[in-house]
Amino acid sequence: MTDPDLLQLRSDSEAAIGRADPATLESLRIGLLGKAGQITSLLKSLGGMEPEARKARGAEVNELKAAVTVALEARKAILDEAALSLRLQAEKIDISAPARPEVTGTIHPISRTIEEITAIFTAMGFSIKDGPDIEDDWYNFSALNIPAHHPARAMMDTFYLQADGGERPPVLRTHTSPVQIRTLLQEPPPIRIIVPGRTFRADHDATHSPMFHQTEGLVIGKDISLGHLKGCLIDFLRAFFDMPQLPVRFRASYFPFTEPSMEVDIGWNRKTGEIGKGSDWLEILGSGMVHPNVLANCGIDPREYQGFAFGVGIERITMLKHGIADLRLFYESDVRWLRHYGFSPLAPATLHEGI
Ligand code: DAH
Repeated sequence: MTDPDLLQLRSDSEAAIGRADPATLESLRIGLLGKAGQITSLLKSLGGMEPEARKARGAEVNELKAAVTVALEARKAILDEAALSLRLQAEKIDISAPARPEVTGTIHPISRTIEEITAIFTAMGFSIKDGPDIEDDWYNFSALNIPAHHPARAMMDTFYLQADGGERPPVLRTHTSPVQIRTLLQEPPPIRIIVPGRTFRADHDATHSPMFHQTEGLVIGKDISLGHLKGCLIDFLRAFFDMPQLPVRFRASYFPFTEPSMEVDIGWNRKTGEIGKGSDWLEILGSGMVHPNVLANCGIDPREYQGFAFGVGIERITMLKHGIADLRLFYESDVRWLRHYGFSPLAPATLHEGI
């Protein structure tokens, strides 16, 4: 390059480019190489020149253009590099920061007891069943051999729903026993089920709630005896309270749907509330051999099949196991209470280390 004007333009341009920030760099590029840029105009002016002169001048202008292009690209590379390292700096993740606590909720003690009961009985070969909260009079009472005069059928004890005039007024089930009937009607024996679920009665005080939970159990087969009932319930109670020596007593009682019927008691100390110690007995659940009328009501021949059933109050055994004095707290959703009495969702109930 010999033309002093071009040399001047080149050195001015290179100097400006070398100092430019991204926005200035772009306007420099447009000012030099854009449609109306200085170098573009120089190239355009070649068109009107004599061929000899154009050749010499063209080489000079093109050399200028090449030099400016190289300078622009070099500056752009430097600016891009700087922008990238700024971004990397800003977006850096601090891997040493403590993790956010993930588990904030707890498993409600009622759900925990249902999980524990499920773990114990499924290990004994039972399966889990459920049934509707809204039953009708036949499933809840009649089919279970509960006579018309039984107090459980009284209006003041049971939540009857608006009847549609049919033979079977709808009721909120007062126990989980109607699922015995549903299962016997659905499945041929042998049957081995438990039924955890909600139940409803017109009761309300420190140990009774209008809505509470029970677990029903039902075993039907050809050779099922009272010995099976006792073995099964003793094993269940000892596993649930985690006491291999827990004293268990069977006491004759009466339920319309079993014959014979037995109340099951566990040993405890009435004064201290300690379970498994002392010489007092505490009633814990109802049980018995399924009444022949119940089987017959479901089309099963009681001379061919027999079995046992039981019903456990879930709140009751949960209160005993964890020393909870007032049942109403189960339903108040007080987060402080739930944190104290709730269970970790990451430690499910299993039999491996004891329930
Ligand atoms: N259904 C009874 C109740 O709610 C409990 C019960 C007792 C269930 C004896 C049974 C049983 O299956 O055999 O009080």
